[in-house]
Amino acid sequence: MIFKQLFDTKSSTYTYIIASDKGREALIIDPVIEHTNEYIKILEELELKLVKVIDTHIHADHITGLNELNKRTNCTRVMGENSKSEVIDLKIKDNEKINIENIQLKAIYTPGHTDCSYSYLMNDRIFTGDTLLINGTGRTDFQNGSSYDAYDSLFNKLLKLPEKTLVFPAHDYNGKKYSTIENERNNNPRLQVNSKEEYADIMNNLKLANPKMMDIAVPANVKGLTLDQI
Ligand SMILES: [Fe+2]
Repeated sequence: MIFKQLFDTKSSTYTYIIASDKGREALIIDPVIEHTNEYIKILEELELKLVKVIDTHIHADHITGLNELNKRTNCTRVMGENSKSEVIDLKIKDNEKINIENIQLKAIYTPGHTDCSYSYLMNDRIFTGDTLLINGTGRTDFQNGSSYDAYDSLFNKLLKLPEKTLVFPAHDYNGKKYSTIENERNNNPRLQVNSKEEYADIMNNLKLANPKMMDIAVPANVKGLTLDQI
């Protein structure tokens, strides 16, 4: 399998390029627009045909690469059914399967960080977006976020996965590349709570500043801007 984890230093975003082998169909999860040329170069070097691009949710800290990649490769833009994006080609539902050549992902609706957040399960690993981070969880204080929904997504969906499942988040701010469900269940400080109320209490008192790019990134991602429009 081809599995590349790329990093945007400006927003600390992880992007994933996935294909079954050289010369096959590929998909990209959470691309960052400024790195489009880098993605295209990797695709060309490995003779991959980009057929699908997925955003785990509407990002507030960077402009998505979905639309520039769509413009250049005609790939299908995929998000959850309640995404506010005006340009998504394929809106998926909870438990729906996403296929490319020899690869299948299962979409799992995990609202809380935003109301359009999905995670994607692929065999031994899950792409958790900002729902579950390494030693953290996504904030719940904008874009229709909900600490109660986040609790359900974390405790009743993600933490119910097999404990050896690898966790690949959309961000890490400390240089960690992946984790496991077991490790997060045992060590993630946000997950050491005994009730929904306790979790909500933590999340509702974080007092975080808004992301620097938020006022630019959210409207750009909803409208589907490409490089020449930003
Ligand atoms: Fe986010």
